[in-house]
Amino acid sequence: MKIEAARPLMGRRLLVAVTGSIAAVKTPLLVSALIKAGAEVRCLVTPSAARLVSPVALASLSRHRCYQDEDQWNSSEPRPLHVALAEWAELVIVAPLSATSLARWSHGLAEGLLASLLLACERPVLAAAAMNTAMWSNPAVRRNWQELQTDRRVLPLAPESGLLACDRIGDGRMVDPKLIELAVVSGLLQADETGRLQRDWQGRRLLVTAGSTVEVLDPARLLINRSSGRMGVLLAQAARLRGAQVDLVHGPLKLPVAWLEGLAAYPVTSADEMQNMLAQLQSKADAVAMAAAVADVRRVNPAQTEKLSKDCLLQSFSQGWEQVPDLLAELVLRRPVGQVLLGFAALTGNEAQIQQLGEEKRLRKGCDLLMANPIDRPGQGFEEDFNGGWLLAADGSIRSLPVTSKLALAHQLLDAILEVQVVISAPS
Ligand SMILES: Cc1cc2nc3c(=O)[nH]c(=O)nc-3n(C[C@H](O)[C@H](O)[C@H](O)COP(=O)(O)O)c2cc1C
Repeated sequence: MKIEAARPLMGRRLLVAVTGSIAAVKTPLLVSALIKAGAEVRCLVTPSAARLVSPVALASLSRHRCYQDEDQWNSSEPRPLHVALAEWAELVIVAPLSATSLARWSHGLAEGLLASLLLACERPVLAAAAMNTAMWSNPAVRRNWQELQTDRRVLPLAPESGLLACDRIGDGRMVDPKLIELAVVSGLLQADETGRLQRDWQGRRLLVTAGSTVEVLDPARLLINRSSGRMGVLLAQAARLRGAQVDLVHGPLKLPVAWLEGLAAYPVTSADEMQNMLAQLQSKADAVAMAAAVADVRRVNPAQTEKLSKDCLLQSFSQGWEQVPDLLAELVLRRPVGQVLLGFAALTGNEAQIQQLGEEKRLRKGCDLLMANPIDRPGQGFEEDFNGGWLLAADGSIRSLPVTSKLALAHQLLDAILEVQVVISAPS
């Protein structure tokens, strides 16, 4: 398989607009990351933003002049700048979005370069709000934020909780630039030709597992596997960005912690802990995606207090092991009517072997969909940013999913889950 979409932002035209929030000091990091990812970036600052972050820094990082309000009235501009920039951009990022700019936008006011550009824009706009906790919870701001959600071209990123520059701890912190970068890639994947974003998961709840589970051998040693959790966490974020409520149960992860922002995350360690958490959360879910790599076996009696000597450790490999509970099979047994279950199988071998082993696993577990993905090919699978394989369905169909970014694959899997849900809920 050839790796396509290796650099999803390569050559994409992105406009980064900065408004007057102290979180503006983080925007240069975002611009730098987008440039490194191969995007073409233009920056724009409001007058307040220009007092908080240097337009010169943004110009240097984006390799292009940084636009300001006065440029709109420059007689050498051949076309109205707000229209020309709105048409140039494939996607606009407003990070941070202040209460003032939010109010102007949601009320349709076109005062200033950014405000007029946002009204002229027919492409997706990603909006990362940031403000003091009291401002964020003010009813006027809440109303304006709600209003924004009705626009299908807007991808809203509500602020997170944290220590704010005003010394309060609470909601208001702009989401991390790493999450914004992820949302940009997702937004480009989600947008249709009119700039509208998929919201087909709105009103649905997805339960996702991710990462490895960990079994104790003794106080010093653990049994763990190579899963980074990327596939599961990106499935969770892709669903959230399409409007879903998402519960993420995860073992240890090897990925940017910012990717967890905005998700209801339940960290666990062992297969037993994951099993308990799934039992609590499953009944609320419309679909479950079991992307975690659960350990296959564990010690029957792990040494709790005494570290095993090397000899004892070697001996212990030949006896005293048991299988961990089969979490996917349990999910199938207890699932409520209409719930769709997606399993994963990390496999080695050629195409025919992987499809056969995958189908055997799907039948054994009884899940609706099974993503059989090779882990013995360079650049894809465990710990990589890319994945692909074959999606096996209960109706016997096999869909080839060529290697692509895990985020793009996540969107394809979400499409497939919805297709199955439509079939299950159709009147017989
Ligand atoms: C130091 C400082 C920090 C500010 N931080 C925020 C903020 O985080 N969020 C916000 O909505 N306004 C914040 N403000 C107020 C805005 O800058 C002000 O409302 C301004 O009118 C925003 O205009 P703009 O949206 O056109 O940039 C801050 C002001 C100052 C002086």
